[in-house]
Amino acid sequence: MAYENQPHYVEETEGIKYYCTCGESANKPYCDGSHETQNTGKEPKEVIIQKDRRVGICDCGNTKTSPFCDGSHNS
Ligand code: FES
Repeated sequence: MAYENQPHYVEETEGIKYYCTCGESANKPYCDGSHETQNTGKEPKEVIIQKDRRVGICDCGNTKTSPFCDGSHNS
């Protein structure tokens, strides 16, 4: 499964989240452990969501504000 050229938008709930940064998860935008089984050399990004909110998670791999989309997929 490759990176996609658009973010994943999620109505996120508060708590600790682990977002995929390798592009291989079958449960995007969340890590499913595929980074280990496929030896991607990447690790999930841990984020503490302070309150329920909508987030855009990068899936092109080019963001400079990982794990959040910064619009780099458009450039
Ligand atoms: S599956 Fe992609 S970082 Fe874990």
